[in-house]
Amino acid sequence: MKIAIIGVGNLGYSITVGILNQKKDIKCQALYLTKRDTSSIEHLSKVSVVKLTSDNKRAVKYSDVIIIAVLPAQLKKVLEEIKSEIDSKRHVIISVATGREIEDIESILGKDVPIIRAMPNTAISVGQSMTCLSGNKNGNLKMHCAKTIFNALGQTLCIDEKHMQAATVICASGIAFWMRLIRATTQGAVQLGFHSEEAQQLSMQTCLGAASLLIDSQSHPEQEIDKVTTPSGCTIEGLNEMEHNGLSSSLIKGLVASYEKINEI
Ligand SMILES: NC(=O)c1ccc[n+]([C@@H]2O[C@H](COP(=O)([O-])OP(=O)(O)OC[C@H]3O[C@@H](n4cnc5c(N)ncnc54)[C@H](OP(=O)(O)O)[C@@H]3O)[C@@H](O)[C@H]2O)c1
Repeated sequence: MKIAIIGVGNLGYSITVGILNQKKDIKCQALYLTKRDTSSIEHLSKVSVVKLTSDNKRAVKYSDVIIIAVLPAQLKKVLEEIKSEIDSKRHVIISVATGREIEDIESILGKDVPIIRAMPNTAISVGQSMTCLSGNKNGNLKMHCAKTIFNALGQTLCIDEKHMQAATVICASGIAFWMRLIRATTQGAVQLGFHSEEAQQLSMQTCLGAASLLIDSQSHPEQEIDKVTTPSGCTIEGLNEMEHNGLSSSLIKGLVASYEKINEI
């Protein structure tokens, strides 16, 4: 597979690192990386499959799968620039630009071009992204290309495009929400007597363990909570105190506020 990443900023770089580090299914023969000023990614030129360029058209010409990771406001210009190089029989376009609909991309490139919208998160750099995907008609026929890439870098879920904004809140913004929960439990552990580094280790591994338990056992969070809440014990005491202070309610309200904001932007 020959891949181009147009716009190697925060997310484009995370995808690049993920692709270069994965040992699974992506047989990447060439990875074209573009940005207008390539000096910040010059170190990647040492990697044999990597080709750095500021020439988006050249990157498209020599690639099959084009991942576009520029800011939403930059997308139109980039699509207009590469349009003449796109071959609907050969290329698959994967856009990660937030809030830019498949219809917007089709209006520039045409309906025949396979177009896929992807919403990954920055955990893609460590192969643990949750990536939601949706495509146009021809994009769905080439969905296996996107799945090969993003399944090697975490997990994927194909969704109706109308849910893409919600997926952005849960998965992309979700990284920030979970980070804040980890920070809060770390601060609590410091107050209970641990040094900050130890506190963060306890918090991170417990968070990972909780998610792994659910993934491996396919059980429900409440089933796992029941296993650790002794009647009249310390866990239910703490849990109920958190709920009296609005833990679940404030998380849900935060997700809804984030969703309302993304729909305004
Ligand atoms: N960060 C996340 O967690 C996340 C998650 C999901 C989706 N997204 C979406 O991913 C996209 C990128 O986000 P980001 O945080 O990575 O933004 P970013 O750091 O600003 O990256 C955008 C990159 O695009 C490059 N660029 C701009 N115009 C270009 C052009 N004409 N040709 C080639 N490269 C160009 C810029 O580099 P130069 O200035 O050197 O050209 C920059 O490095 C956004 O649409 C965002 O909504 C982000």
